[in-house]
Amino acid sequence: MSRQPTYWDYLRLDELLSLQGGLEDDESQVSSDELHFIVVHQVYEMWFKLMLRELREARDHLAAPLLAEETVPLVVHHLRRVTRIFELMVQQWAVVETLTPQDFLAFRDKLIPASGFQSFQMREVELVLGLEDSHRLHYGGVDPLAHIREKAADSPAGSKVLAHLEAVQEERSLRSTLHDWLHRTPVQASGPDDSGDSEVVDRFLEDYLAAYSRAQDRQVHRLVEGSVVRPEAIEEKCAAAVEETRSFLFATDVDAEERTWARRVRAGLVFIESYRELPLLAWPRTLVDAVVEVEEQFVLWRNRHARMTERTIGRRIGTGGSSGVDYLDEAAKGRIFPELWAVRSILLAKADLPPLHHPEFYGFARRGQG
Ligand code: HEM
Repeated sequence: MSRQPTYWDYLRLDELLSLQGGLEDDESQVSSDELHFIVVHQVYEMWFKLMLRELREARDHLAAPLLAEETVPLVVHHLRRVTRIFELMVQQWAVVETLTPQDFLAFRDKLIPASGFQSFQMREVELVLGLEDSHRLHYGGVDPLAHIREKAADSPAGSKVLAHLEAVQEERSLRSTLHDWLHRTPVQASGPDDSGDSEVVDRFLEDYLAAYSRAQDRQVHRLVEGSVVRPEAIEEKCAAAVEETRSFLFATDVDAEERTWARRVRAGLVFIESYRELPLLAWPRTLVDAVVEVEEQFVLWRNRHARMTERTIGRRIGTGGSSGVDYLDEAAKGRIFPELWAVRSILLAKADLPPLHHPEFYGFARRGQG
């Protein structure tokens, strides 16, 4: 008769609970404060692990060349799990903060120069989400991935870490699959493979920019009449906003060879966000919201980490040698999905939107049918 599983065998608890011995590999040498420090880090790494699985599932579904409508809720499902994990991870800093500054100092020196900066799973989360190399924050001129590669040479687990990172860098990111999908979004009922699509898209973008410009003019008048700020400053700011909107919509900030692609991606995004009440866009907008929620929680996690650090070590340098809190705050400013944030600055009230062509394409014709 086969053996029945036990709870502890299934979860490999014997092994799991023997991994908190620190550098000495001897838990009796580890103070309760240090045990706490090790456990909270390990728990975070476990959450990273689960999050990575969920992000890859979401990305793989999204990477299908033709995303079936019923698959979008699945992508959202995986992303929502990631968001819930991040929310929990934000809360978890409160547990870390039970470590007083002085208690941390009692064992801090033995960690130097190790640091969360070397968390390869954290780098993996950034890569799978789609952080571009040019946007990865360096400190003291050091690229985190290059640093991990260098340190791997002296570490027993180094070769596994290296193989792991190399494999991740070959993968597609959630951001790039999201862009492919946004690129396919029908704009004014026209898809990228339809003839005349680029004219339809350009016309939509021109109309949108004109509508944005009109809404800005209206705002300028009201602000100039009632604001404490100098009228010229308001006018300058609003004129700059129109130029930034033009640059965003026509992707003039993107390299020439990728501009046409980026323009259609952004047109798809603006279209989904603007006409979000259309039945056919219900899941697409939920998907875009789900990605924004993931990044919002990620940023909150970084912010909360910085505040916890300020409370625990003040403004001293980190165990990894960075400027500490300043570095962490700088990292929290970065965005992996900048377009999804930028579009928020240029959205229009429904009454100001360019007229929608072929509403029946997006499911309005079926409305009210018994
Ligand atoms: C007393 C607790 C902690 C303090 C004082 C602290 C402090 C710091 C500091 C100063 C840095 C900047 C790099 C450096 O110079 O070392 C850093 C980076 C980092 N820490 Fe922590 N940390 C703590 C706990 C944790 C925990 C529990 C995690 C969970 C995994 C974590 C994850 C990270 C990560 C991922 C980075 C890299 C951030 C980035 O490059 O964007 N830290 N930490």
